[in-house]
Amino acid sequence: MAEVLKVVKARKTFGNLVAVDDVSLSIQKNKLSMIIGPNGSGKTTLINCITGYLKMDSGKVYYKGKDITDYPPHKRIELGLTRTFQIPSPFKRLPVLDNLLASYRFNPGAKLINAPFRMRWVKHEAEAVEKAYEVLELLNLTHVKDQLAENLSGGQLKLLEIGRSLMTEADTIVMDEPVGGVNPSLAHEIFKHIRNLIENHGKTFLIIEHRLEVAVKYVDYVYAMAYGKLIAEGDPETVLTDSKVVESYLGTPVI
Ligand SMILES: Nc1ncnc2c1ncn2[C@@H]1O[C@H](COP(=O)(O)OP(=O)(O)O)[C@@H](O)[C@H]1O
Ligand SMILES: [Mg+2]
Repeated sequence: MAEVLKVVKARKTFGNLVAVDDVSLSIQKNKLSMIIGPNGSGKTTLINCITGYLKMDSGKVYYKGKDITDYPPHKRIELGLTRTFQIPSPFKRLPVLDNLLASYRFNPGAKLINAPFRMRWVKHEAEAVEKAYEVLELLNLTHVKDQLAENLSGGQLKLLEIGRSLMTEADTIVMDEPVGGVNPSLAHEIFKHIRNLIENHGKTFLIIEHRLEVAVKYVDYVYAMAYGKLIAEGDPETVLTDSKVVESYLGTPVI
């Protein structure tokens, strides 16, 4: 197994609250890793630290062996580590295809220095369009390419989020609830797309997910958090039946 992302003792406090308490992760390439835990356990804060949207109090993050602890998000994206966000509202009024093209500017190939050279710029645009069509095809979104993002279903919007990260040539994609608010059959479809990207396109995913009943059969490795701490890790069956994990959900079944 090859480690692509390593987090060593990540710590993040907000005043007196220790939101992430010395959490270490070892994310393997071409795997789907999932962080679980009750509300407020520090999951979102942790991935914001990993992707550079929050500065840690202490700890280290390594990506492909490189210490990226002090890198801003865009430098992490250039290296291939991308966090998806819900499509921002101005983008919702743009067609799906344009949403994809807009994300291409983060691509390391899109050097501003090329802008004055028209031929290079045209080539760059042609590459962007070609890439966008590839991504549409890959995610079964070709038939909605001209629809405004605001008219997509919840599930299609999630796929578009993944699509935008693929436009940046991301090889590790970090998502907060990839199937949140999506009906079960679409949720399975999204996970099948994620598996396809992992198995046939060399991608790695790190996700936070509440819909454990849907996620469990697609996931390779689980990290469980409670009160900012990592309380269990391992394969899904082991972690979801771990007594500390069950207890952290206050006796309600984990799945
Ligand atoms: N920007 C912030 N300022 C202060 N407290 C925060 C902030 N973000 C998160 N928290 C607190 O940190 C804890 C962990 O939050 P969060 O990472 O969002 O948990 P989760 O994603 O697991 O629900 C919670 O108690 C939350 O209220
Ligand atoms: Mg959260």
